[in-house]
Amino acid sequence: MNSFETIKKLRMQVRDWKSQGLRIGFVPTMGNLHDGHLSLVELAKAHADRVVVSIFVNPLQFGPDEDFDSYPRTFESDQAKLLATGVDAVFYPAVDEMYPHGEFQTIVSVPETLTGLLEGASRPGHFDGVTTVVAKLFNMVQADVAVFGQKDFQQYCVIERMVSDLALPVELVKAPIARSEDGLALSSRNQYLTASQRVIAPKLHTVLTDVAAALTSGNRNFNELQQTAQQQLLSDGFDSVDYVQIVHPKSLQPSDSQDSEFAVLGVARLGKTRLLDNILLNKI
Ligand code: PAF
Repeated sequence: MNSFETIKKLRMQVRDWKSQGLRIGFVPTMGNLHDGHLSLVELAKAHADRVVVSIFVNPLQFGPDEDFDSYPRTFESDQAKLLATGVDAVFYPAVDEMYPHGEFQTIVSVPETLTGLLEGASRPGHFDGVTTVVAKLFNMVQADVAVFGQKDFQQYCVIERMVSDLALPVELVKAPIARSEDGLALSSRNQYLTASQRVIAPKLHTVLTDVAAALTSGNRNFNELQQTAQQQLLSDGFDSVDYVQIVHPKSLQPSDSQDSEFAVLGVARLGKTRLLDNILLNKI
């Protein structure tokens, strides 16, 4: 496995693979890798001949009061995990390599109808940071296929829209959410949980599963389902609930009773940790 810190060296490697007719898979990450990331890598391997993983904690997608400085940087152990998973190359650029003009950076911005709600409502500018860095990474890696997790469902929708609007020549694959045995969606931020918070955390998945079951059995009282779920999360011990929303999985707008596809999205807080989860329902 090769590790590249510069765009130039990464491009030389990719050019060599492409000249051999090999298909390139790409998994962008911010490092601090867990089994969820490795499941994305496995999926990329199934879709490609060579897999590149990027590790870059992207300052552009963190707000001023967010955890950019304290975000865990664990390159040595990440590298060992990627080697064991059979990754072909790691791209590990410094901030200057990605943003040579500092804050004077061209920004890729997907319309607010997708980015201004849900996560975007409480994290202004977050998705511009994500789409800008992902567009740059796509240009650097020149992958045929890129894998993103369903866990960050809105992020997936926003990137899908960017790829479509900019006609980027990359196929997107959405990887199912990797969970611990008790249902908690794997996330780098789970390590911030105390032992007692860790016991409460999987209840987010339980509550979203209850909402999904109600929708599947024909209940279309969206407001009531959302409010009951929020109350349940608070009585389960969450400190606050940012939202439980039932939305259309393409437009991310609130669901209509005629819809047959739903995304049930939930974000709740335990202390300083924000937990995200979702369930997708197709053709019910
Ligand atoms: O999902 C993430 O880890 C990040 O948002 C991504 C896609 C690597 C962009 O920085």
